[in-house]
Amino acid sequence: MLEVSGLTTAYGEISALREANLSVGSGEVVGLIGPNGAGKSTLLNTVAGLLVPRVGRVEFKGRDVTGRPPEELLKAGLALVPERRRIFVDLSVEENLRIGGVTVPAAERGDLLDEMAELFPVLRDKWTTSAGYLSGGEAQQLAIGRALMSRPQLLMMDEPSLGLAPILVDTVFELIEALRAQGRTLLIVEQNASRMLEVADRAYVLRSGQMVAEGTGTELQSDERLFDLFVGNRPSG
Ligand SMILES: Nc1ncnc2c1ncn2[C@@H]1O[C@H](COP(=O)(O)OP(=O)(O)OP(=O)(O)O)[C@@H](O)[C@H]1O
Ligand SMILES: [Mg+2]
Repeated sequence: MLEVSGLTTAYGEISALREANLSVGSGEVVGLIGPNGAGKSTLLNTVAGLLVPRVGRVEFKGRDVTGRPPEELLKAGLALVPERRRIFVDLSVEENLRIGGVTVPAAERGDLLDEMAELFPVLRDKWTTSAGYLSGGEAQQLAIGRALMSRPQLLMMDEPSLGLAPILVDTVFELIEALRAQGRTLLIVEQNASRMLEVADRAYVLRSGQMVAEGTGTELQSDERLFDLFVGNRPSG
């Protein structure tokens, strides 16, 4: 489904991502973990077309989409839930979801809205509420729901559990499990490495812009070089 090869993305002089390789097969749940500043968001944003790489290639469904604009990629079936859940706070829950569905035919949006109401019972109760009044956990669910409204074939999420209370972190991981059970293809950035490895088929470890390891949860958790990633929750600074 997704094939990233030799991807290098820089901000001015600084290469935040250096020759990264990553692949996601259809129906796979793949994690991307690594410390702060490792380049995780840079990778997702480059794949989603928000950043243009210096070098390297992004293939989606067998087609070279390197450097294509985000709207085109969204239409092609590639959606991103960005870091810090950007939602429209002045619009209602339903309106936010409808915006997520602009790329699908109007006739299909009703069914998709029903699907979202079923997947997110918490949102169903707040359908007409302004999104600005949602709690952090509800807002995150809305951000994910909005991305799902585009009927993506590959859904990427950037730190969906960031800043949430422990019980809401559980909700996010339950949701990931539910999406996985639906057979969806997911690429998820998480700092909560241990939790991510429990739900992922495979994961990649990024450090200082470079891929340093790849494997199943069990393989990575027994990798001594990655010990620090699994101690505590998230490195400070
Ligand atoms: N807009 C920007 N301009 C300049 N440098 C940037 C920019 N965005 C990110 N960087 C730098 O690029 C590197 C990678 O950042 P990135 O946000 O991809 O890391 P990350 O792994 O997502 O980190 P975090 O876990 O904190 O979200 C960091 O050194 C960061 O300071
Ligand atoms: Mg990030």
